[in-house]
Amino acid sequence: MKHTIVDSESVVVKLQNEDNLNSTEIITRNLPTTTTTTTTNLVDKDIKSIDLIEAKISNRISEIDHENCLPNDEDSFFICDLGEIEKSVSIWKNYLPNVQPHYAVKCNSNIQILQKLHGLGVNFDCASKAEIDLVLSLGYDSEQIIYANPCKTNSFIRHSEKQNVNLTTVDNVHELYKIQKFHPNCNILIRLITDDSTAQCQLSTKFGCDLNVAINEILPVAKKLDLNVYGVAFHVGSGAKDFTSIYQAIKDSRELFDKMYEFGFDPKILDIGGGFERETFADSAKMVNFALDKYFPAQFVQPRQIRFIAEPGRFMVANAFTLITHVIARRDLPQNSNNVNAMLYINDGVYGNLNCILFDHQNPRIYVLTNKNQLYYKQELTTTTANQGGYNFSVWGPTCDGLDCVSSFVKLSKDIQVGDWLFFENVGAYTSCASTKFNGLSTGETETLYVNSNE
Ligand SMILES: Cc1ncc(COP(=O)(O)O)c(C=O)c1O
Repeated sequence: MKHTIVDSESVVVKLQNEDNLNSTEIITRNLPTTTTTTTTNLVDKDIKSIDLIEAKISNRISEIDHENCLPNDEDSFFICDLGEIEKSVSIWKNYLPNVQPHYAVKCNSNIQILQKLHGLGVNFDCASKAEIDLVLSLGYDSEQIIYANPCKTNSFIRHSEKQNVNLTTVDNVHELYKIQKFHPNCNILIRLITDDSTAQCQLSTKFGCDLNVAINEILPVAKKLDLNVYGVAFHVGSGAKDFTSIYQAIKDSRELFDKMYEFGFDPKILDIGGGFERETFADSAKMVNFALDKYFPAQFVQPRQIRFIAEPGRFMVANAFTLITHVIARRDLPQNSNNVNAMLYINDGVYGNLNCILFDHQNPRIYVLTNKNQLYYKQELTTTTANQGGYNFSVWGPTCDGLDCVSSFVKLSKDIQVGDWLFFENVGAYTSCASTKFNGLSTGETETLYVNSNE
C-alpha cells in the first residue's frame, strides 16, 4: 500500500489497493491553511510556563550542595506543568470534538496526570490487569476503560470480566475463543492493520489483522460463538508521520462496519487509536475529520448511534514534562577523538528515564540548566544563544554499560563541570514508565514537582 501527500494546500491521497495494484483512487480536497503558525502554537511553551518552571527548578536545586548532600539528594527529577495537560485536552476538544479520548495509561501512569485527565472528561485505555486496577483504584467507572490489548492473558480476561471492563480489541480468532470462554458478554472491536511504516514506533508489525482476515475469519467465528462484535479499532503507529494512513484506516473501517451489518452485528464504536503528537496535530486531526466526514457522515452515524473514540498517549503528556539531571563526572579526551572534546556523565540515562532513546526512538535535545552557579533555563528556551560555548561533548548515563549513551555528540558550554545540571524538554511520554533498576541506580519512582501555568 502506498500513500502520498503531494502538497499542503490540497490532499492527494493515492490509494493503491492491495487487491488491485493498478487501481488508483485520487481524492482531492482543499484544506484550510495549516502548517507552521498553527503547528508552532500547539507546541510552544508560553512565558508564564517557563517562569513557573524556572522558579520551581531554582528552589529545588538551590537546596542541593553536591559536596555535602546525602546519597540520592541530587537524583534527577521531573517538573510537570499540569497546565500543559489541560492545554492538550483543550486542543483535542477543539480539533476533534466528536472523538472521545481514552488516554493510553501505558504512556505515563503518573496518578496526578490520570486524575487531571479524568477531571477533564478523558477516559482510559488500559493494556493490562495492573493498569485496569490502577484506574479503578482511583474510583473511576469501569465503563470508562477500554482494555485495548488484542492479545490478552487468560487470567486478565477473567479479571476484566469480574471488574466489569466490557470493551476490548481483538485481531485473531484464537482471542475470540478465549473471550467466549472467560468473558462472553464483552464488547469486541476488531483491530485492523495500518500502514505505519513512517511512524516513530510501528505497532502493525505486531498487531492488527487485514480486512480479508477480519471479514472472512473473525466475523464468521464471532457469529458462530455468539459474541458481541461492537466496532473497529486501529492504530497508525506511535508518532505517526504519514496521515494518509489515517484516511485509509477509516476507509477500511467503514468497509468492515458494512460487513458487520451484513453478518447481523450492530457495531457502535469506531476507535481511531493513538499516534498523535502536538507538533503535527493540526494536520492529523484535519485528516481524521476529512475521512470521518466522507466514510462516517452524520446520516450514517446518527441513526445507528455510532460513537468515535481514540487512544491518545503521547499527545496528552509529552509536552508537560521536563527532566532535570545532574552532571556526576567529566572526562577530557585527547584531541581528535572523533571530534569529541570531552565526555559528560549524568545521573539518568537509557536504563532510566531516558530509555525513550532506545525504546521510543526519541532524540531529546540536551540543554544546559546551570553552569558556574548561573541558571540558564529561561535563556536556553527563549534565546538563540542557547548552549553557549560550542564545545563538543558526548553525554552518558550513570550505569557501567557502554550502551548507556544519551548523546554521542552535542555542543555545550566548554566549562560544564561536575555539579552542573542539564535538562531535557517534552519528555512526558514513554520515559518514566519504562525506567529500570539496572545497576541499582534507581531508587524507585523519580520525584516529580508540579506547576500549573493555566491557573
Ligand atoms: C493499543 C494502543 N493504543 C494507544 C497507544 C498510544 O499511542 P500514542 O502514545 O502514540 O498515542 C498505544 C501505544 O503503544 C497502543 O499500543
